[in-house]
Amino acid sequence: MDLFEYQARDLFAKHGVPVLDGAVAETPAQARAAAERLLPAGGGRVVIKAQVKTGGRGKAGGVKLASTADEAEQVASQILGMDIKGHTVHRVMLAPAAAIEEEYYFSVLLDRANRTYLAMASREGGMEIEQLAVEKPEALARVAVDALEGIDEAKAREIAEQGNFPADVTDQVVATVQKLWDVFVGEDATLVEVNPLVKTADGRVVALDGKITLDGNADFRHPDHAALEDESSADPLEAKAKAKGLNYVKLDGEVGIIGNGAGLVMSTLDVVAYAGEAHLVDGRGMKPANFLDIGGGASAEVMANGLEIILGDPSVKSVFVNVFGGITACDAVANGIVQAFGLLQERGDEISHPLVVRLDGNNAEEGRRILTEANLPLLEQVDTMDGAAQRAAELAAATAANPAAAK
Ligand SMILES: Nc1ncnc2c1ncn2[C@@H]1O[C@H](COP(=O)(O)OP(=O)(O)OP(=O)(O)O)[C@@H](O)[C@H]1O
Ligand SMILES: [Mg+2]
Repeated sequence: MDLFEYQARDLFAKHGVPVLDGAVAETPAQARAAAERLLPAGGGRVVIKAQVKTGGRGKAGGVKLASTADEAEQVASQILGMDIKGHTVHRVMLAPAAAIEEEYYFSVLLDRANRTYLAMASREGGMEIEQLAVEKPEALARVAVDALEGIDEAKAREIAEQGNFPADVTDQVVATVQKLWDVFVGEDATLVEVNPLVKTADGRVVALDGKITLDGNADFRHPDHAALEDESSADPLEAKAKAKGLNYVKLDGEVGIIGNGAGLVMSTLDVVAYAGEAHLVDGRGMKPANFLDIGGGASAEVMANGLEIILGDPSVKSVFVNVFGGITACDAVANGIVQAFGLLQERGDEISHPLVVRLDGNNAEEGRRILTEANLPLLEQVDTMDGAAQRAAELAAATAANPAAAK
């Protein structure tokens, strides 16, 4: 889960990383009140910053200074509601303006390719860091961080040295980098980034902007992280799926997908997207509507929950159930599908769209026989993955082109 800047700021503060005072506002009036409180600490100026989970806010006009509470209110009313790369601004953060002398960059992240952690640092931070990485890669130090040793003082010095930080801030940078590592470990993050880390006119090093990505696999260790979730922007279907313990990601196509195993589901998405190119509605090919991995031991209940979520998506026009029987054999999955139809009927959520099922692997024949005998409405079987994907795309296009005929 990616956090908003103000949430990152709070976690930084909790771990002793130097940050500025701050306040969050959802209305211009709240921004005005916050500005009144923060103006003195900012030498008579405050900064108003769009809170969206994307980069480049400054360049998009989402970071502005104001010198009076009136002006802050006015600036906030401009920024609130703004669209930054497809993200609507619902909140702004206000902070005292800092007298910035220099802007640096620091981040630490999980480096999957090298099976380690990686710290990146540069004395040339600020808004153009992506450009710096491309045009002047030697100015962006990359220092591997051993998972067991972490960032101790010696490692932090190595990072500060490689990043070429000026001597007068080295000690503060070393201390701050160690605290940021505490954030990374203590909160189970996969990314902690500070851009810019600044030196102020009075010589202090402060984190002015923060990005944190939390590792969802560690949520069970952090009950307090649930409160950081952004319900206003969470997809309602994803939220519902999560509550049912399903591994579901909403996509923007028409073919609902259920599979067992993340790898199989991902290749199903590819196959459906490819097959869908041949089935256009209003000039647009049919695409997968979601990712849903129901995992290994798929019970009837899990199958029913999966179907319920997918059929609850109004853009879904057909469903492709792609199962490769392994430890859970196809006959068990077929029985699961039959029972799922029953369960859905009991819940009043009957199957409303064509369902294409492909069963292969362990006990496929028996699984197919069970489905054939059950003679379920709207269900067809296709024995190959490509064939099933094509049929699902074709049915989706037919339903999309003629919704009335769907029932
Ligand atoms: N409190 C502050 N006082 C003065 N200037 C600030 C303050 N916060 C940010 N700035 C200036 O605004 C610039 C952009 O701010 P920030 O880094 O928060 O946004 P951004 O880099 O555009 O956003 P993102 O990191 O999402 O791409 C900073 O590089 C800094 O120069
Ligand atoms: Mg930034």
